[in-house]
Amino acid sequence: MEETVQKLLAEGHGILAADESSKTIDKRFAALGVESTSETHRRYREMLLTTPGIGNYLGGVIFFDETVRQKIGEKTFPEYLTGQGIVPGIKVDEGLEPFNGTEEKITKGIESLDNRLKGYKEMDLKFTKWRAVIQISDIFPTDAFLDENMERLAEFAEISQKNDFVPIVEPEILLTGNHTTTRCDEIETKVLRVLFAKLKSKNIDLTNLLLKTSMVLPGKDSGVKAEPLEVAHATLRALGKSVPPEVAGVVFLSGGQTPDEATNNLNEIVKLKEDAPWKISFSFARALQEEAMSEWGGKDENKLSAQEVFIKRLEKVSNARNGKL
Ligand code: G3H
Repeated sequence: MEETVQKLLAEGHGILAADESSKTIDKRFAALGVESTSETHRRYREMLLTTPGIGNYLGGVIFFDETVRQKIGEKTFPEYLTGQGIVPGIKVDEGLEPFNGTEEKITKGIESLDNRLKGYKEMDLKFTKWRAVIQISDIFPTDAFLDENMERLAEFAEISQKNDFVPIVEPEILLTGNHTTTRCDEIETKVLRVLFAKLKSKNIDLTNLLLKTSMVLPGKDSGVKAEPLEVAHATLRALGKSVPPEVAGVVFLSGGQTPDEATNNLNEIVKLKEDAPWKISFSFARALQEEAMSEWGGKDENKLSAQEVFIKRLEKVSNARNGKL
C-alpha cells in the first residue's frame, strides 16, 4: 500500500477519475450527441489513456467495473497503465439509494464489497474509491443520514485495507443548492469530523488512505462566484478543523466547476498551504475530461486533436498541483 500511496501522490502528479458509471457516461455522451455503447466508452477511454506523456502528470487512474476489463490491443486498461508506471484503481460503490424513504441519498454496495475486491485483486488494481454524496439545503444533511453514510464509508476503508487496497474515501459535498460559502464550510467540517471519528474507531491506517473531497464553494444557484483566494481560505479552514495530519493526501474532485475554475482554485489552495501536513493534489473527472471529450466528439479522426487538448489541461492542472500556475 505504501508504494501505491507514494505513486498516487508523487510531485506534480494526480489522479484521473475515469470512473463514470455507465449511466453517467451515457449522460455526458448524450449532451454531445455521441452514441453511447460499451465500444464507444472503450474508444473514448483508449483516446485518453494513449495520450503521449500522461505519465508525467498522472500517478493513477480510477476505473469503473464496465471499463476495467476493456482493452487496448491485447492489454486490459489496468495492464496497459501499469506498463506505463501509472497505478490503476477502481470505484467500488454501487451508486445511491433513498435513505429510509427520504430525499437524502445514501451510497450502497457494502454487503458484496469483500467478494468483489477478491475478484479485483486478480486485475492489477491497487486502490479503491467509494463516493458518498451530501446535498446541502436548509434541512439537509440530517444527523442520522450523515452517521449512516459515513459509517459505510469507514466500512469501505476497513474492507479495502484488509484486502490490501489503498482506499480513497470520497465524501462529495454537492455544488448544487443556494447555500453560502460559510454554510458549505460548516457542513464540510461536520461531515469530515464524523468521517474521521468513524475511521478512528475502526483503527484505519490513515497513512495508507487518501481523502477525496470538494472544495468549499458557494452553491451553484446562490448567484455568488467566489475568488480563488476565498475558496482556498475557506477550504483550508474546513480541512484544518477536521482532517488529521496523518492522512497521506487530500485530492480534490472538481464537482461541476469549469476546468479553469477547478484548476485556478487548486493552484491557490496549494500556494496558500505550503506547510500542509498532507499532500494536496487532484482527482478530477470533469475538469480534466470536459474539453477533450468535446473535441473528440465520438470521432476517431479527432483523436489527435483531443489528445492535444487533454495533455494541455493535464499540464495546467499539474502546475496547479505544485502551486505554480
Ligand atoms: O466521484 C466523482 C468523480 O470521481 C470526480 O468527478 O471531478 O467531475 O467531480 P468530478
